[in-house]
Amino acid sequence: MKNRPMTGAHTNCRRLLNWIRRTAEHCKPDHIHICDGSREENDRLCRQMVETGTFIRLNPEKRPNSYLCRSDPRDVARVEHRTFICSINKADAGPTNNWMNPAEMKDRLNALSAGCMRGRTMYAIPFSMGPLGSRIAQIGVELTDSPYVVTNMRIMTRMGQAVLDVLGERGPFVRCVHSVGAPLEPGQKDVAWPCDPDNTHISHFPEERMIWSYGSGYGGNALLGKKCLALRIASVMARDEGWLAEHMLIMGVQNPNGEKTYVAAAFPSACGKTNFAMLVPPKAFKGWRVFTVGDDIAWIKEGHDGTLRAINPEAGFFGVAPGTSMKSNPNAMLSLNKDCIFTNVALTDDGDVWWEGMTDAPPAHLIDWRGQDWTPDCGRLAAHPNARFTAPIRLCPTFDPEWDNPEGVPIRALIFGGRMSKNIPLVFQAYNWTHGVYLAATMGSEATAAAEGQPPVRWDPMAMLPFCGYNMADYWNHWMNVGRHLQDPPRIFRVNWFRRDDKGRFLWPGFGENMRVLKWIIDRVQGRGYGVESPIGYMPRHRDIHWQGLDFDPETFYELMSVSREAAAQEARAHEELFDMFYDRLPKEFVHLRELLKSRLWRSPEKWELAREIV
Ligand code: OXD
Ligand code: MN
Repeated sequence: MKNRPMTGAHTNCRRLLNWIRRTAEHCKPDHIHICDGSREENDRLCRQMVETGTFIRLNPEKRPNSYLCRSDPRDVARVEHRTFICSINKADAGPTNNWMNPAEMKDRLNALSAGCMRGRTMYAIPFSMGPLGSRIAQIGVELTDSPYVVTNMRIMTRMGQAVLDVLGERGPFVRCVHSVGAPLEPGQKDVAWPCDPDNTHISHFPEERMIWSYGSGYGGNALLGKKCLALRIASVMARDEGWLAEHMLIMGVQNPNGEKTYVAAAFPSACGKTNFAMLVPPKAFKGWRVFTVGDDIAWIKEGHDGTLRAINPEAGFFGVAPGTSMKSNPNAMLSLNKDCIFTNVALTDDGDVWWEGMTDAPPAHLIDWRGQDWTPDCGRLAAHPNARFTAPIRLCPTFDPEWDNPEGVPIRALIFGGRMSKNIPLVFQAYNWTHGVYLAATMGSEATAAAEGQPPVRWDPMAMLPFCGYNMADYWNHWMNVGRHLQDPPRIFRVNWFRRDDKGRFLWPGFGENMRVLKWIIDRVQGRGYGVESPIGYMPRHRDIHWQGLDFDPETFYELMSVSREAAAQEARAHEELFDMFYDRLPKEFVHLRELLKSRLWRSPEKWELAREIV
């Protein structure tokens, strides 16, 4: 065995050291470095990436300690069609995941990985998802040949020597292997963004709690703590151990009396989760404050007091930059003033960053995300639509100090929201936990605006379609079980910020005004808010919403809340088709709930406008 130089942090976990050595033996890096997470280590890597052309240091007067990185144009997003759940049995991955036999996948990856780190350093990144030592947290170790990944993981997780100290000699950890798949021959010059897009595989081995990602350096494909560990692998751990790993933001809402209520909310990708997590209440909500615990992932476990407690396993935001501005999300913008990494945004002439939507008028000249000159009339986007910022959560003005509480925060409401231009009202509440699980499981979202007509709806149960590491029907059964064991389960709500009128205009202003909906939700869980019963759940009337400071015409509100019987019945029939995919694993309650929904619909008027009827 070649004795490669090994530098960095210290561990006496033999299992970890052996695995590092074995992986190095196969991938053949020149050098191994165990990351200690220190500032010096980070500065060294950043300097090195500036020298190799991977990083551009931004103007330190404008954004101290911040960098811009441009990816290979073939490697710009998560690749769902190259993402695999390699459970032993195909049925355990379920019909919504790509499956491959684990032994076959390992053969394939072993072949691709032989010598794949030649000419590079293999970094071992010890990281904790969640507060160090928390009973809800998990430790992972990512072996990667990408220094970009190291610097991002340092922002996105608690990372370094402190994690190895918690791990000790024998602690459990999730093994994560990552390579960009671009070995260097002796003397070969590296490129700024090495990758192997034709051979990308993002593979999960749920029974072994192992992740193996090859070929991509971007986002969720490479920062393995995020979607791979904290959702796909953690969802399997959660199933086995009786908790929930969810694609949810976590926020606390404090009223003027100091009462703080925590909610968690699931939205499909690109539905404004980061904006909602950092919401700025309208001026009329004097004394109300929003606290951000997380913007993407929640791990939720029953606490000693019988409540559901949630932690954010992450330590940073990996947010979509385009569309983020001081108007749309001032708190996100203020989180980006220093210590950030920007990927695939544009560079301004004074060494700062820009993206579409950041300012009303674009700068007269930029270098675009591909490194080319850009002017407003050139007909190209300056930033890639999936350009990202990586920012520490602690810099967010609404950062909640409870973020690091190892016990988590008590969750009182679970909110599910898709992007639906028709039929789904602004807000309604499930009758009970079981009904809430049904509402969450049947959630849909419109993918992108179609050229004409209504955009296609993608069914996205609990916003987990790309992230559930096992059979979706088993996942729903697990949700049912979790609720069954709770004395006072959180109340469940559906919301829809994206409803449009016949002319295609949004009916609801969204952003900070979503506070009005949030207040109704909080009033409901605190036993103060009124809701009328409709065939799909409890709904607020116009007078149940706090309107001060917003002149929102009651007619528009009724339109926003109205549902047509025919459309709802059609939707119920579509649920039947979805459920057919799951055969005998489908929760039996779902069949019953669907029939109850249909019979409630039969008895309702053609277009019910409860919000109006009961004024
Ligand atoms: C994300 C996603 O990047 O959900 O958070 O795609
Ligand atoms: Mn997400």
